[in-house]
Amino acid sequence: MKSLVLYYSQKGSNRYLAERIAKALQCEIEPIRPRMDVPLLMMMGVHFGNKKLSHEVGSYDRIILCGPIWTGQFIAPLRSFVKRNIANIKQLVFVTCCGSSYEKKDEKFGHGMVFKKVQELLGDKCVGCQAFPIGLVMPADQKENGELMMKTHLNDGNFKGEIAERFEEFVRKLRT
Ligand SMILES: Cc1cc2nc3c(=O)[nH]c(=O)nc-3n(C[C@H](O)[C@H](O)[C@H](O)COP(=O)(O)O)c2cc1C
Repeated sequence: MKSLVLYYSQKGSNRYLAERIAKALQCEIEPIRPRMDVPLLMMMGVHFGNKKLSHEVGSYDRIILCGPIWTGQFIAPLRSFVKRNIANIKQLVFVTCCGSSYEKKDEKFGHGMVFKKVQELLGDKCVGCQAFPIGLVMPADQKENGELMMKTHLNDGNFKGEIAERFEEFVRKLRT
């Protein structure tokens, strides 16, 4: 299956995750580049679309879309990509490195709520959603430490243990 990884990342964790996925699947990868890349404005709904992609979305069997969650939203650059390209998307998997834990996924700012939005937008074309909460790479007694959470980013040094195991399982499924 021919896959293309597309990602948006502000602080680097979702870029790291996207790069790992592309490497594991040996597929191509490209960043989504908002015309105006100002997170605060995008969070308030001010978004002027994305720059043109160099890859042709319609020539891939599956898009793997990777990006953060902000204030419980399916963020503007990702949503805008889906809306513009929906006719050409055959299958899409949404992946996020986010702040919300698996336990809190169904709370107001949890990733479970965003997964519902992605599924609503894409219907049957959405074939999977996967979260890798940043808490997975934080010390067990610090997982509720919001300040530390904001300072923690995925990298080769901390991508170990549970997150690496979950990642291997995730890519194994994508390969089958
Ligand atoms: C302003 C702001 C709001 C956020 N809101 C949420 C949220 O509602 N739910 C969540 O799970 N994570 C939230 N996060 C955490 C990000 O999703 C997380 O830090 C993510 O890993 C950042 O990705 P990046 O490094 O690729 O930019 C928020 C982060 C920021 C900076």
